[in-house]
Amino acid sequence: MILITGASGHLGGATIDFLLKKNPEVKIKALVRSEEKGKGLKNKGVEVAIGNYLDYNSLEKAMTDVELLLLVSSSTMGDRHGQHLNVIKAAKQAGVKHIVYTSVLKADPNSKLSLAVDHVKTEKDIKISGIDYTILRNTYYADFLPMIISNAPESGTIYYSAGNTKVNFAARIDMAEANAVVLSDLTNHKNKIYEITSGNSYSFSDIAEMISKITNGEIKYVDIPSDTLKENIIKAGMPEEVADMMSGIADSMRAGDFDFTDPALENLIGRKPADLKEFLTGVYSK
Ligand SMILES: NC(=O)c1ccc[n+]([C@@H]2O[C@H](COP(=O)([O-])OP(=O)(O)OC[C@H]3O[C@@H](n4cnc5c(N)ncnc54)[C@H](OP(=O)(O)O)[C@@H]3O)[C@@H](O)[C@H]2O)c1
Repeated sequence: MILITGASGHLGGATIDFLLKKNPEVKIKALVRSEEKGKGLKNKGVEVAIGNYLDYNSLEKAMTDVELLLLVSSSTMGDRHGQHLNVIKAAKQAGVKHIVYTSVLKADPNSKLSLAVDHVKTEKDIKISGIDYTILRNTYYADFLPMIISNAPESGTIYYSAGNTKVNFAARIDMAEANAVVLSDLTNHKNKIYEITSGNSYSFSDIAEMISKITNGEIKYVDIPSDTLKENIIKAGMPEEVADMMSGIADSMRAGDFDFTDPALENLIGRKPADLKEFLTGVYSK
């Protein structure tokens, strides 16, 4: 039995769909936070367990009969490492044989990305647990780029704070497919760490040029200090902790943490991952 956490989310949900497509007979249990969130999954023939990373007992219960675990990193802010550690401890207690974990590109302890620190600690704890593992270190989702681009196709300007450093964006759906490939063939991926990227990195000036071509418009990129980005996010009504996180991501991009390309994703899914140009065409040519 495979337990998929974050199953009500985009990455976990799409991973389940790929697993079922590969093998309709595969036994999957989905960890969700409420009955309501599990309804659609039940309709697909997936067993549902209710649990929360913050509630160890719920996790221990969910691990019953589980041999293989996909731990999708938490989207609940505040001690994500502690949340992940609860899952790892419950897995160890239940005798889970292999953990697949979705981490962040390079997972560097010195990264400007505060979020990376939780991933570094989680990776370490998985290794300490003695359970076999596979770590997929995902680059930045291309799917989040339209949020950064905001209304630039209408206003003509992308305001962001990544300098002219290139960033590797990959499509989340390709990452989900890679998860399913690994979960379906553990012996080939035992104790491996993969840097999950698309084939090319682009600067925000490149991105402005791409969207200009796609929309037949004139869009320019204006680099702003990350403090200004933070103020803009707060002015848009977001909480300060979200603004901190978002400006930290931009700082990390500027520092080059996401300027890295690796063939692992292409090797796993057996075809070229979606390039950002292709992804943006899908979004902006509608
Ligand atoms: N690489 C990137 O660019 C990038 C960007 C954003 C996020 N991420 C990370 O990648 C993860 C997966 O991405 P995604 O797009 O699938 O995110 P998502 O759609 O927001 O899904 C997150 C999933 O985690 C579940 N979850 C959150 N807190 C939980 C908790 N305390 N206990 C149990 N489950 C919990 C959510 O459950 P509910 O449905 O109940 O909320 C949801 O199923 C995110 O959680 C985040 O850590 C990566």
